[in-house]
Amino acid sequence: MAKKSNLSPQFSGTTVDIRRSFQSLIALLAAALVVGAVYLTAESGYLVQEDDENVVQRRSTGNESSENTRCDLFSGKWVYDNESYPLYKDYECKFMSDQLACGKFGRKDLDYQHWRWQPHHCDLPRFNATALLERLRNKRLVFVGDSLNRGQWVSMVCLLEKAIPPRLKYMHNNGSSLITFKAKEYNAKIEFYWAPLLVESNSDDPVNHRLPDRIVRAQAIEKHARHWTNADILIFNTYLWWRRPQMKILWGSFNTSDGIYKKVDMSRSYEMALKTWSDWLEIHVNRSKTQLFFMSMSPTHERSEEWGKSEGGNCYAETDMITQEGYRGKGTDPKMMQIVENTINELQKRGLNVQMINITQLSDYRKEAHPSIYRKQWEPLTEEQISNPLGYADCIHWCLPGIPDVWNELLYAYIFNYVTN
Ligand SMILES: *[C@@H]1O[C@H](CO)[C@@H](O)[C@H](O)[C@H]1NC(C)=O
Ligand SMILES: *[C@@H]1O[C@H](CO)[C@@H](O)[C@H](O)[C@H]1NC(C)=O
Ligand SMILES: *[C@@H]1O[C@H](CO)[C@@H](O)[C@H](O)[C@H]1NC(C)=O
Ligand SMILES: *[C@@H]1O[C@H](CO)[C@@H](O)[C@H](O)[C@H]1NC(C)=O
Ligand SMILES: *[C@@H]1O[C@H](CO)[C@@H](O)[C@H](O)[C@H]1NC(C)=O
Ligand SMILES: *[C@@H]1O[C@H](CO)[C@@H](O)[C@H](O)[C@H]1NC(C)=O
Ligand SMILES: *[C@@H]1O[C@H](CO)[C@@H](O)[C@H](O)[C@H]1NC(C)=O
Repeated sequence: MAKKSNLSPQFSGTTVDIRRSFQSLIALLAAALVVGAVYLTAESGYLVQEDDENVVQRRSTGNESSENTRCDLFSGKWVYDNESYPLYKDYECKFMSDQLACGKFGRKDLDYQHWRWQPHHCDLPRFNATALLERLRNKRLVFVGDSLNRGQWVSMVCLLEKAIPPRLKYMHNNGSSLITFKAKEYNAKIEFYWAPLLVESNSDDPVNHRLPDRIVRAQAIEKHARHWTNADILIFNTYLWWRRPQMKILWGSFNTSDGIYKKVDMSRSYEMALKTWSDWLEIHVNRSKTQLFFMSMSPTHERSEEWGKSEGGNCYAETDMITQEGYRGKGTDPKMMQIVENTINELQKRGLNVQMINITQLSDYRKEAHPSIYRKQWEPLTEEQISNPLGYADCIHWCLPGIPDVWNELLYAYIFNYVTN
């Protein structure tokens, strides 16, 4: 077992309490289930070389016409693999976040770390940290979004830092919205930029964003975008912060008194914000340089009745995943995913490609992989809370090592164009 004393203090960037904000969001979960999922399949347009492990290996099905079969990395199943997983140890990663280090905070059943994602018709390439660092030489990779994206960034840093000797890597966090991990030898930056709604909002402060009244400037993104536009690889997400029936939209800026405020339906607000985001990309991104990705909704597991248990529970004390193929809980909103897809399709018509990394289904199975009560509590718990762990269990974020590592393996496959559309 890990020696607890080996655990390094977390970097200051994550001493952020987004929990409260999420709790209020969760209270407002209004699931609008809309059927009409459009399949985002990836065609296997790559060369298969037997001894090149950096290639998505299509498994032989004995079907010789498989040359043109579609390899959908997002459709598959979890396979127990305690030989290769976890891909790193939480106590070995110097940059681990206390919000996600479940083992460090007392979780004993660590089986959730031992699963590999197995697409139905092909294999994911093995994550090779050195190869990715080479790819990122003199480059910037930036995750832009909310705490789910931040978790994925922490995972990415942990996956990569193993391959970098001490003193050749450091974390820079000057208190702004941008946190930078730097691999010195490669002159590579792996960054996280806090913008939970992508566009400007009153929740943009990386530390103090617990505000009861959420206000969005759906037409304004430049304040954020100027910090990431010239990156080489951009990975966006935005979902959970929108989950309330309506958003208050501001025309005008925050520090003037003549702004115009209007309450607008959430899905319409989401659409407007994504339009602003995509318009910005269309005009400002250098197409011959930048690779663009959008992480689909990360599911939550707040209601045990969704997976057939009695009411009143959540992910607390769950130790098994959901095995029902195609399971879909109410912690996701297909309508919002559809809006993202439409936005991306529109952009494609205008000549800009954004690849959606569809992690929604594969993560929805994993109700047991959230931090639950095994994470740092930013504020001491009250007696009342301690007596009711269900009430403060975090069923939104994901333990590390864990699910976001797999998201990064999928991202890895796309960064190297092993799968093309
Ligand atoms: C082989 O693959 C093709 C293309 O996907 C499919 O149409 C066909 O049914 C497959 N044949 C067998 C025997 O699986
Ligand atoms: C995401 O992947 C799942 C599993 O393959 C699929 O059912 C769903 O339709 C996909 N969603 C989108 C928007 O591509
Ligand atoms: C993996 O799990 C199997 C079955 O539970 C066990 O026998 C084996 O020792 C485990 N291997 C490792 C490396 O933990
Ligand atoms: C990882 O990638 C590096 C650089 O491309 C390569 O030299 C090395 O052999 C790869 N490692 C493995 C285990 O394949
Ligand atoms: C932090 O760094 C960013 C980007 O380099 C810079 O724009 C900002 O002014 C810095 N903030 C502080 C407080 O030093
Ligand atoms: C509002 O803020 C912006 C940027 O922070 C600043 O340039 C502008 O002068 C401010 N306007 C007022 C009226 O304070
Ligand atoms: C776009 O990126 C390419 C490749 O890095 C570079 O050669 C080119 O000068 C850039 N174009 C602009 C307008 O910055």
